[in-house]
Amino acid sequence: MKNIKAIIFDAYGTLFDVNSATEKCKDKIGDKWEGFSNYWRSTQLEYTWLRSLMNRHKDFWQVTEDSLDKSMKAFNINPSMRNELLNLYKILSPFKEVPEVLKALKEKNYKLAILSNGTPTLLNELVKSNNLEKIFDDLFSIEQVGIYKPNSKVYDMPIKKYQIQKNDVVFLSANTWDVSGAGNYGYNSIWVNRNKNIFDKLDYLPKNIIKDLNQLLEIV
Ligand code: LAC
Repeated sequence: MKNIKAIIFDAYGTLFDVNSATEKCKDKIGDKWEGFSNYWRSTQLEYTWLRSLMNRHKDFWQVTEDSLDKSMKAFNINPSMRNELLNLYKILSPFKEVPEVLKALKEKNYKLAILSNGTPTLLNELVKSNNLEKIFDDLFSIEQVGIYKPNSKVYDMPIKKYQIQKNDVVFLSANTWDVSGAGNYGYNSIWVNRNKNIFDKLDYLPKNIIKDLNQLLEIV
């Protein structure tokens, strides 16, 4: 990877731990908290894909609420937890190495951005609540194009804004399908494989596989 001009990150699951909201309630939810959290996340993602295919867009916050409602029913979670879980989802914690790595990258000469399904409000709040607002040049939200990842219109946004080539971008995601989407689009796509998962068969293999963002500093 030469002449990289921009390093672009997925938000949910890559920089910020989507399980951290439910984990903070694990005493109230009990042992099923992790299964419930995974179900909520996979339902949320399914809804983004289905809504894009159906041409019936709702923003990521509405999709997060709708998927939570289904998941709470599926796991028999007390309805009184709904607001608490949603409020915690707005201030998800970053994975532990993230703040330091971002600060180190900021010293180098790259554009740094988030490219996410999240709404502009959600992304601003997420970054602000974790004191990361000075790091990023841009928080690109799919709301600008009205369709979810992995539609190519999403990955087009930074290219248009920065007037750069697809190959000038390093894109990082922990979501295998997002790595595939961005890689098929033309980015140098890196998979952050935090949990020893299996990669997809979707016509793209990651340029690199790293176990956390520390390893990114050895690559760029
Ligand atoms: C995002 C989802 C894919 O932040 O995690 O776009």
